[in-house]
Amino acid sequence: MRTRLTQMLGIEHPVMLAGMGGVSYQRVVAAVSDAGGFGTLGAATMSSEQLDAEMRGVRELTDKPFGVDLLAALPERMVGDAHKVVEGGASLFVAGLGVPRDVIKVLHDGNVLVASMCGKVRHALAAVEAGCDFVIAQGTEAGGHTGTVATMPLVPQIVDAVGERVPVVAAGGIFDGRGLAAAIALGADGVWLGTRFIATPEARAVTGYKDALLRAHEDDTVISRGFTGKTLRAIRNQWTRYIEEHPEELSKFPEQMGKAVAANALHLGGDENTPVDPDKECYPSGQGVGAIDELIPAGEIVRRIVDEAEHALARAASTVVR
Ligand SMILES: Cc1cc2nc3c(=O)[nH]c(=O)nc-3n(C[C@H](O)[C@H](O)[C@H](O)COP(=O)(O)O)c2cc1C
Repeated sequence: MRTRLTQMLGIEHPVMLAGMGGVSYQRVVAAVSDAGGFGTLGAATMSSEQLDAEMRGVRELTDKPFGVDLLAALPERMVGDAHKVVEGGASLFVAGLGVPRDVIKVLHDGNVLVASMCGKVRHALAAVEAGCDFVIAQGTEAGGHTGTVATMPLVPQIVDAVGERVPVVAAGGIFDGRGLAAAIALGADGVWLGTRFIATPEARAVTGYKDALLRAHEDDTVISRGFTGKTLRAIRNQWTRYIEEHPEELSKFPEQMGKAVAANALHLGGDENTPVDPDKECYPSGQGVGAIDELIPAGEIVRRIVDEAEHALARAASTVVR
């Protein structure tokens, strides 16, 4: 399935692994890239040294292209890390929060493409004006930090605003090939999936996270400021309920992260050996979670999504009575 996105990234399938902090480490990134999709390291929870090691790890596991996602909200780290991304052999840099104005030139000079996460049309316009190569339109259904506009209305409006100039990738609540087919019908050039790829053997996750995803229904997530101070969609639990009842205890980003850590509700960069309280822990999740009931190898997910999308597009064409 070729699109402008696959041509730009030099990949086979328009299926991208979201650069999820705490989850998208070398194993799952390499598995997605190796299957013909595009894996993105989630570097927000990594030290600069870890980022180096993870990029090296991906290159040892696959010779396919991969990317790195960082939160542009931490500008003091951006410039140094942009140089590392170039040296580390990544071919894409994704800015998770905000337009990465300070580093676009460094990245382009190093032959690294730049993309920006967008929750509103004006974010996409600003990203393209600043020189980003494509945008990821992320609807409120998404797991992790998220905005207020849903994927269905957001994607076509961003396509109308910038789609003639750059590819648009759809994100938020997409978990199978029907989502890819729908994204293409809305004018997007590919999809960026988070939650579905957490429920894989290769993804890194703190204790209880994958089990919580397998159990959760579509209405078990909530948008809370309780974990980071910014609006973040996660599985509803004791901590999100406590914060709903005590909004006066909230601090801004990033101070609230310290409070969540102190409350034993956030273990950034932890893994399955990290002791956590599953009734309080931050388990970011999108609304597609109700459809996830088994762990599936990440490469298999990529292959299934492409097959299902082809069927869904053919079925859609034959559903319309002429
Ligand atoms: C555990 C988790 C961590 C995330 N961390 C980041 C991040 O560090 N940077 C970023 O750009 N997006 C992050 N996101 C959002 C994803 O990039 C993506 O847009 C989202 O997962 C898509 O929605 P879905 O989960 O419904 O597939 C995160 C999402 C999850 C679930």
